[in-house]
Amino acid sequence: MTNYQLNDIDQMVTEWLENIDNIIPKLIFDMHTETKLNRFDLVTNVDQQIQNEFQQFLSKHLPDHQLFAEEKSNEGIDPRQGHVWIMDPIDGTANLVKQQEDYCIILGYFVDGEPKLSYIYDYPHGHLYKAIENKGAYDNNQILLAPPIIDIKDAILSFNTQVLNDETMHELYEASFGHRIIGSCGLDSLRVIKGQFGAHINTNPKPWDIAAQFLFAKELGLKMSSLDGKQIDLSTAAPFIISNEGCYKEVLEILNSGSGYGK
Ligand code: IPD
Ligand code: CA
Ligand code: CA
Repeated sequence: MTNYQLNDIDQMVTEWLENIDNIIPKLIFDMHTETKLNRFDLVTNVDQQIQNEFQQFLSKHLPDHQLFAEEKSNEGIDPRQGHVWIMDPIDGTANLVKQQEDYCIILGYFVDGEPKLSYIYDYPHGHLYKAIENKGAYDNNQILLAPPIIDIKDAILSFNTQVLNDETMHELYEASFGHRIIGSCGLDSLRVIKGQFGAHINTNPKPWDIAAQFLFAKELGLKMSSLDGKQIDLSTAAPFIISNEGCYKEVLEILNSGSGYGK
């Protein structure tokens, strides 16, 4: 059993993320894309190789830590037990393929289901965002302050217009300042973390899409829950919201009014 302090693990993972800079350009240069469930569901060699590299890093330095990640089978791994890293090696793969911008690496480290360390690495813009249990959140080592309260009428809300019904969307547009979507759950969530968006909603996230958000929300006093206001089980995920406290209640009320938000 390895017996590292959180600080040591953070240093090792930060170094791994810095080193990954050396391989990403070549992976992108050689990029090849495959489809998974349908023509919009993409995976590339960049996703696969980044995940392989992290798996190798864990096997070498933290052999008793398990990896629960998008591009592998996670059979037999319960992310709520033991030392588990949940990883989305590229979040926003469609953006990587189509725009070479607006994608990130998401990593969350959990011990018996409790979030300990979180990373959202915005590689194209050179920003490593991290959260450390009880030590706050950082943007390239600069402390991130809890964002100011944003009232719903001043808030930019981020959601996928293809999955909400017209009535719900109309109500959200009416109540808020406006709508934007980046197309990467990690980066859309980061806008909330940094106080730029009021809320981000994803009606069908997987554990790796939201793995880092638990700790950022906790450290910065943001709301994160399922769309019926409950705690999210990190092994399954659930329709989710990360929100500024100033507009959380109102956004959930709109989503759950009438016959709900679904089409
Ligand atoms: C997707 C992105 C997208 C979100 C989807 C995710 P991927 O992740 O985060 O913004 O709407 O739910 O699956 O496939 O690029 O890792
Ligand atoms: Ca994702
Ligand atoms: Ca992904």
